[in-house]
Amino acid sequence: MEIKSAEFVISSATVSKCPEEKLPEYAFIGRSNVGKSSLINMLTGNKKLAMTSSKPGKTLLINHFLVNGKWFLVDLPGYGYARIGKSGRERLEKMIYGYILKRESLTNLFVLIDSRLEPQQIDLEFFEFLGANGVPFSIVFTKIDKLSASKLSENLKKYRDKLFEQWEELPPIFISSAETREGREELLGYIGSTNQIINQIK
Ligand code: GTP
Ligand code: MG
Repeated sequence: MEIKSAEFVISSATVSKCPEEKLPEYAFIGRSNVGKSSLINMLTGNKKLAMTSSKPGKTLLINHFLVNGKWFLVDLPGYGYARIGKSGRERLEKMIYGYILKRESLTNLFVLIDSRLEPQQIDLEFFEFLGANGVPFSIVFTKIDKLSASKLSENLKKYRDKLFEQWEELPPIFISSAETREGREELLGYIGSTNQIINQIK
């Protein structure tokens, strides 16, 4: 799919403040610093669209970006960030869970996982939560430029095995690098074909 335009629309502190639910949207979630905002910039081809940082805890609101005038990419705050204190963390969790559970136009939630790490409890529990609540999601392994091809396939296999302990069927799985742009065609292709299906059933 070709990206003709991508523009920032609004930052919202609660799901009730988000734009009207008229267009399909694709949101990005995952632990702080996993590369959510960088992936949005890589997909849209605009490094300045979503704000990124080498320090975790950069994105703290629900950010809507309108793509090709037809669908939204949504950048969410990360989970599992320890340094904001209990009340800050609770506020963010409320925002994230409110969005995920109430947003009917949420078409697919991309859950980002750092491809360098062993399966983490916090992510596995998050998948459980999504499954229990019927939230449609996919998995994106990020930062694949930071490890060798053999280490990547070893880690992916380990992750798949772990997921099969929990699930009978796996969601769509993607790999990505915001540096080399690997995974861009696959992710945009997936969004494009999902949009087509939505338009057919409307
Ligand atoms: P929060 O908003 O804090 O939750 O973080 P985030 O998930 O949005 O992460 P962000 O995109 O801000 O990236 C965090 C850091 O990882 C930045 O220093 C990025 O440059 C780096 N980064 C993100 N994606 C990649 C990638 O694919 N490869 C490499 N090498 N670095 C990446
Ligand atoms: Mg961010």
